[in-house]
Amino acid sequence: MFEYINCPWLEPEIMDVVRLFGAQDEKFGHYFDYSGGKYYNCIEYGGEFYDFENYADTFDEVEFRRYAKRFSKLSFYKVLSAAKGVNYPYGALTGIRPTKLAYQEMTAGRDFEKLFKELCVSEENIAHVGNVIMTQKNIYDDFGGQDLFVSLPFCPTKCEYCSFITAPITKTAHLVDDYIGCLEREIASLAPIISRPKSIYVGGGTPFAISAPQLERVLRAISALNLPAVEYTVEAGRPDTFTDEKLSLLKDFGVTRVCVNPQSFIDATLEKIGRKHTAAETFAAYEMAAKYGFDINIDLIAGLADEGAEQFGYSLDCAISLNPANITVHTLSLKSGAKLKEECSRLDVRGIGEMISLSRCRLTKAGYSPYYMYRQKYQAGGWENCGWCKDGKASVYNVDVMEERADNVAVGANAISKRVFGGGERIERYASPKDIPSYIAKLDKIIEERRKLFE
Ligand SMILES: C[S@@+](CC[C@H](N)C(=O)[O-])C[C@H]1O[C@@H](n2cnc3c(N)ncnc32)[C@H](O)[C@@H]1O
Ligand code: SF4
Repeated sequence: MFEYINCPWLEPEIMDVVRLFGAQDEKFGHYFDYSGGKYYNCIEYGGEFYDFENYADTFDEVEFRRYAKRFSKLSFYKVLSAAKGVNYPYGALTGIRPTKLAYQEMTAGRDFEKLFKELCVSEENIAHVGNVIMTQKNIYDDFGGQDLFVSLPFCPTKCEYCSFITAPITKTAHLVDDYIGCLEREIASLAPIISRPKSIYVGGGTPFAISAPQLERVLRAISALNLPAVEYTVEAGRPDTFTDEKLSLLKDFGVTRVCVNPQSFIDATLEKIGRKHTAAETFAAYEMAAKYGFDINIDLIAGLADEGAEQFGYSLDCAISLNPANITVHTLSLKSGAKLKEECSRLDVRGIGEMISLSRCRLTKAGYSPYYMYRQKYQAGGWENCGWCKDGKASVYNVDVMEERADNVAVGANAISKRVFGGGERIERYASPKDIPSYIAKLDKIIEERRKLFE
């Protein structure tokens, strides 16, 4: 891959760009140099040499490394973009959340738009990031406090595209009661840590994959913390798991927000991705949840199976017709762990841009604003996941997690607690074991480690 590279510490960042163009098996040479604020990149590719020089005032080592990475990535982006005749929606902006970089620029007193242009981000995406910043402003400005996350990593079956650490409940059913016993102990240990709660999120997996009495134990443990009324989400999840009994429990325990996740409203697609539910079940689950007055979020994925813009547009219209408080549009991302990864190593991404434009256009027309966004590695076409909300319905939890504006106190297997220091400049994390048996076995240590993180 690299026939020579004089600064190997730049390689991981450069590879993010190279992978974007699917050029990881091609040969490159790279020489980097720095002198008096000038960043020099020379790239050898396809028998040619390409030289780039960028200038930036640099005051310390951290800044130097940041610019070195930025300019080397940009140089590779320009070479590959010209050679392949392809522009990506976020240009050379990889590896950092677009809003995070925008806020960094704004804090330094600069326009983020100028930097984004230099990084070859498209005009539409610059405007989109600006809209996200505007919609999430009130939540973003309220820095500090804690969000509580409770992990329920159980699912009815494993969907083919999914790389979350979760197993079909048939394989883990014997562990659920012990797991909930551990959650009860962990949650009880949080009383001294949560001083200013901002939101609660019970997420999955599929929290509704467990039985109503099991779910009640989790909700009761949270309720025993006696937190004031805050946004309280249960990512109930797959429509085939919804029952009146579970929804009424949520209502009794003060839950305010529920997710009904179809991913697609096309039965043939649902079959192909192993979702094991139908569009009719989504409509029924939605109706059941709406009766209780919850704010409802609907998750969709662009790029599933053989779907093009027409099929995705149909699902989007179905979602909009239900008039939920939130619609979250994900772009398919195939990571290791997903069954589909092997089968779709060359995903057809041509239509994704069209699907995202269509979602932005129709959601805006239907009165939704984009309020949080993030990008992942291996995301089709270099696109994004974006949450859309009706007026005043932006989810505090989603913004806080994405922008790291509050501590995240997370319990359960594979939960990552984060403590935010200063104004958010430094973050310390504690990650619980990923698999359920190790989590159960190490509970005492986990409680102690989290106590230390937040003391
Ligand atoms: C943690 S999952 C839990 C949701 C719940 N288990 C369900 O599937 O209904 C949250 C969301 O991430 C999205 N997601 C999961 N795997 C994805 C993938 N490979 N690419 C893009 N989005 C994905 C789906 O929209 C999913 O609803
Ligand atoms: S998409 Fe949701 S239901 Fe499907 S396996 Fe992943 S977490 Fe479970």
